[in-house]
Amino acid sequence: MMNINLLLVIIATTAALLLGTTGSNAISRHDDQRKNHIVYMGSLSPENSFNHLMAANNRHHNLLSSVLGDEELARSVRVSSFGRSFDGFSARLLPEEAERLKAHPNVVSVFPNQIRELHTTRSWDLIGVTQSVRRNLKFERDVIVGVLDTGINVDAPSFNDKGLGPPPAKWKGICQEGANFNRCNNKVIGARAYAFDNDHGEPASSPCDLEGHGSHTASTVAGSLVQGASLYGLMKGTARGGVPSARIAMYKVCGKYCTDLNILHGFDDAIADGVDIISLSAGGGPFAGYFTDAISIGSFHAMRKGVLTSVAAGNSGPDPNTVSNVAPWLMTVGASGTDRQLVTPITIGRDGFKTLGNSINTVSSGKKFLPLVSGRTAQNSSSNDAKTFPGACIDGSTSKEMVKGKVVLCNGAIEGDSVLKRDGALGMLMADYKGELDAAYAFVLPTAMITPERYLAIERYINSTKNPQVLIHKSRSIHVDSPFVASFSSRGPDRYSKTILKPDLVAPGVNILGAYTNLASLTSSPLDNRFSNFNIMSGTSMACPHATAAAAYIKSFHPDWSPAAVKSALMTTASPIKVPEKQAEYAYGSGQIDPTRAVDPGLVYDLTEDDYVRFLCNMGYNRVMMKPIVGRDVACPLTKAKVWSSDALNYPSMNLQLPIPGTGGPVAAVFWRTVTNVGAANATYKAEVGGDVAGWSIKVVPETLVFWEVNERKSFRVMVRGPPVNIDDGVLSASVEWRDTEGRWSVRSPIVISADLLT
Ligand SMILES: *[C@@H]1O[C@H](CO)[C@@H](O)[C@H](O)[C@H]1NC(C)=O
Ligand SMILES: *[C@@H]1O[C@H](CO)[C@@H](O)[C@H](O)[C@H]1NC(C)=O
Ligand SMILES: *[C@@H]1O[C@H](CO)[C@@H](O)[C@H](O)[C@H]1NC(C)=O
Repeated sequence: MMNINLLLVIIATTAALLLGTTGSNAISRHDDQRKNHIVYMGSLSPENSFNHLMAANNRHHNLLSSVLGDEELARSVRVSSFGRSFDGFSARLLPEEAERLKAHPNVVSVFPNQIRELHTTRSWDLIGVTQSVRRNLKFERDVIVGVLDTGINVDAPSFNDKGLGPPPAKWKGICQEGANFNRCNNKVIGARAYAFDNDHGEPASSPCDLEGHGSHTASTVAGSLVQGASLYGLMKGTARGGVPSARIAMYKVCGKYCTDLNILHGFDDAIADGVDIISLSAGGGPFAGYFTDAISIGSFHAMRKGVLTSVAAGNSGPDPNTVSNVAPWLMTVGASGTDRQLVTPITIGRDGFKTLGNSINTVSSGKKFLPLVSGRTAQNSSSNDAKTFPGACIDGSTSKEMVKGKVVLCNGAIEGDSVLKRDGALGMLMADYKGELDAAYAFVLPTAMITPERYLAIERYINSTKNPQVLIHKSRSIHVDSPFVASFSSRGPDRYSKTILKPDLVAPGVNILGAYTNLASLTSSPLDNRFSNFNIMSGTSMACPHATAAAAYIKSFHPDWSPAAVKSALMTTASPIKVPEKQAEYAYGSGQIDPTRAVDPGLVYDLTEDDYVRFLCNMGYNRVMMKPIVGRDVACPLTKAKVWSSDALNYPSMNLQLPIPGTGGPVAAVFWRTVTNVGAANATYKAEVGGDVAGWSIKVVPETLVFWEVNERKSFRVMVRGPPVNIDDGVLSASVEWRDTEGRWSVRSPIVISADLLT
């Protein structure tokens, strides 16, 4: 890398001398107004992919200096180049320079480098992957999972490489050593870190995990077996990944948050290094289209190389229209809850009542009652926050003297534990108004999150006695009904991909025990001195690696399946979940994954690059734009096909958002689909329509599909007729299920129709 840069400087300097340009004098550089931008140039042409990064550096320098008209300026503002798996570079640009680059014929898009958020064990047994499950170890050992995340703690017990031989021959990656990171092993076979981003702080000096997030997600995918794992005794059991024999390659693209630039570099390397599947538990932020979005771009090129990308749907639920990572070639994963929930018992007053809160409380306050004070009483009377949010525990709103040595009852403010710990408080009872008590979180003080009703009851108790007292016990796990969709899991429909149902599916993402880093405390707070090789975390970040592992598991049985076939297998064998009517499939997509069933799905809805290109043409991406992206001329039809025509994407779920009445009449839609037989030769399938379809007519034509051979394809149509849809109707939630006559397979697709909220 160093040599390449040095060489370039010499070439460029020579060129500058020859041309006689002295950029810095001639042009005002406005360095302080420059922002990191990504210049995306599509796929690599065969001649460009030959010489990799060195050639790319040269090409990008030439393009940039021709557009800027200044060699030296081009050299000083260009930050990095992609060029192993797709084409593009990054540079610190002024808005008008970005505009000029956009107009260049070789450039697909130019967009500012944005921040993406991290979407922060029993879970495997719950979805049917027990330790004794049938495995294809010969191939599982050859599966390489690329994890784009915050780095990895190789020393964690989950990443021991007992019983694993050297990396598979196809592996072309590296182990990048550096601060706090000096080795890979036969489990973690590769690691890279990216330090291109100066706008957003924290350049990565090594793939070492300072956050714990990357170690946690990587261990969920492919961690080795660790017996007796727990967090201070909580959730004790055997920790293991979904594919414990698979290999991990870590691409550190995130610190406290991730950036588009680092994410694109992660994809560029992971694809070229030879990973089989990519897992990315981050997303969110502005979205303006597939090819101005780093995750959509990187995963599109991964798909072209046969690599499926599994992503987190986001933690912005339960509101509708919050799902992120919506490109149809992504597997978008929401979070479900498991049957174990963590509760924290509290005892209010010596003869008082016992109740339950939620938190990850690693210590008990013991038998000794602690004095309890209400945030209303303990408020700092000269603080404005105290007046605006009575009883809340915000920095400055409580009085130090009043909280010291006490447990404080707080009327909201989630970060109150740090403020109170600093001021010498002993514990915290915190009212939760977001209704997110299905997941438990760790705090720097003994803490219990409580419902608003319990908050009022405890305040009444405080008001009724002279000496209010409380005990906060260590958390314990209780059995709850499962699965359910986690409150925080982002919901569809999506505003941009209106014909694609997102999220695609859900997997466990609540209170997941996984590997952690010893470089961060349990809560990441400097006030916390608890360190552990394991931590309990919740989020679609934790759901995504479960689905990644499930996909890797399928890949170990069917190494030749396309990314779309693997995803289809997981979707058509998933089980729907009970949720409030109005959310329906927008909460869980096709349902909770069932990896052991998905290995043998019977039929798959397959997709090729050409199918995605047709879909993109229909969405308005014209041939001029598509040509560089796929590196060849594509024939976009002149008239855009209707979304539900035979040209629609052969997606394993069926979704339509329709204009609300006034603009739209009665619904008459047709979903055209084609299934590929991956079960047995000579199989007959019959269609069955399910769901609450009163007032609707749903017909499948033909109703019977007869296959004589494996890999034979058969097409059918689902014709839906019904009254005009209203926003108040919620959604039409139905399904079509293909069942074979021998009772071996059932292949289910949800059908969802709703009013488009934005028309
Ligand atoms: C109360 O708030 C004021 C204003 O923010 C601050 O100056 C003062 O130190 C606080 N007093 C206590 C006891 O925390
Ligand atoms: C407790 O007393 C405070 C102060 O008098 C009052 O503002 C609050 O509403 C009371 N809480 C309850 C639940 O009665
Ligand atoms: C094909 O299926 C039919 C109907 O299930 C059965 O009668 C027939 O024996 C099968 N033929 C073969 C070659 O398996």
